[in-house]
Amino acid sequence: MSVLFTPYTMRDVTLRNRIVVSPMCEYSSVDGFANDWHVVHLGSRAVGGAALVLTEAIAVTAEGRISPSDLGIWKDEHVEQLSRIARFCNSQGAAWGTQLAHAGRKGSTKVTWEGDGAVAPEDGGWVPVAPGTEPFNDSFPRPQALTEDGIAAIIQAFRNAAQRTLDAGGEVIEVHAAHGYLIHQFLSPLVNTRTDRWGGSFENRTRLAIETVRAIRTVWPERLPLLVRFSSTDYAAGGWDLEQTIELSRILRGEAVDLVDASSGGVVPLPPGTIPVGPLYQLPFAERIRREAGIATGAVGMITEPADAEAIVASGRADLVIMARELLRDPYWPLYAARTLGATAPWPKQYARAEGPRASLTARSHIADEREIHN
Ligand SMILES: Cc1cc2nc3c(=O)[nH]c(=O)nc-3n(C[C@H](O)[C@H](O)[C@H](O)COP(=O)(O)O)c2cc1C
Repeated sequence: MSVLFTPYTMRDVTLRNRIVVSPMCEYSSVDGFANDWHVVHLGSRAVGGAALVLTEAIAVTAEGRISPSDLGIWKDEHVEQLSRIARFCNSQGAAWGTQLAHAGRKGSTKVTWEGDGAVAPEDGGWVPVAPGTEPFNDSFPRPQALTEDGIAAIIQAFRNAAQRTLDAGGEVIEVHAAHGYLIHQFLSPLVNTRTDRWGGSFENRTRLAIETVRAIRTVWPERLPLLVRFSSTDYAAGGWDLEQTIELSRILRGEAVDLVDASSGGVVPLPPGTIPVGPLYQLPFAERIRREAGIATGAVGMITEPADAEAIVASGRADLVIMARELLRDPYWPLYAARTLGATAPWPKQYARAEGPRASLTARSHIADEREIHN
């Protein structure tokens, strides 16, 4: 009996299994709008059997984009295209949600396939905002330090984005507080050197995360789940670390956050080899947060094998398995994982005639099938 393929309920949302499509920037938008690419890309992963399909980091303000081609949710006009994605994912039995994000000092940078560094104003770039004025590195733009009013406006933008997620038919929100983007920049003492009520102590550095979650909850109904992605550690002395992540997770549990998606890194450049990347390398974060903060967690990072995904949830080390690159390689991974684990998978009826073991074309039974397929 597979645990990976048992349903999982958060508030009034029941996921059909434990597999989540991790947020993945597609850098394929103009003026923040979703388009056919996003419908097909996210829709295929719903067809492929994932239980929850999350958008890429979707910018809550135009200056909160990583690149000019990011997906956005800063105006009401964005809602209609997003609702197409929600409708299609739902029609395939998957829940759909947004990863609400603000890039902070990592904004106004090039899309990954165009190289590194800042986008010039004449190419559609802008001056990003951050806790202070230090750029991420020499090739990134120098940010402007946020004022009190600027911070208040960003919190409001997260709230408005939550309302638009709801309007689009979203059932889940994940707040992006990881990977060196704005909320993480405030959490980490390596970046946040402010001396006002937004910097310094743990209480001050976590204020933006907490206020953002509270603002979202003013419009995001109690019946719908709210997730937060953290970088569990900065992998750097004096930085944000697992103990602080656990402490903040405990606080957010009391702010109606349902699950912590436990990622890591990204707030400062690190020498190559610092992060011990390997299969399941971030799982110990999810496990400790779950145990010590008493909150559900999602494990993410180099999860590629059905047996590993199964063991993660079966052993109670995490509640959900959040997958990125393996689901790019194979949108149908959940369907095959189910077969491997002896579970029933939700093959779409349109694909039912292809249901069978992989690499099976030479198998006798499938040659027989092939002959029947001329109709
Ligand atoms: C193409 C691509 C885009 C990504 N974009 C985002 C993003 O928008 N938000 C985010 O939190 N993480 C993003 N990530 C990180 C993934 O969500 C995930 O945490 C990471 O790839 C590790 O999981 P994996 O080993 O299953 O790929 C991205 C990763 C990839 C490969």
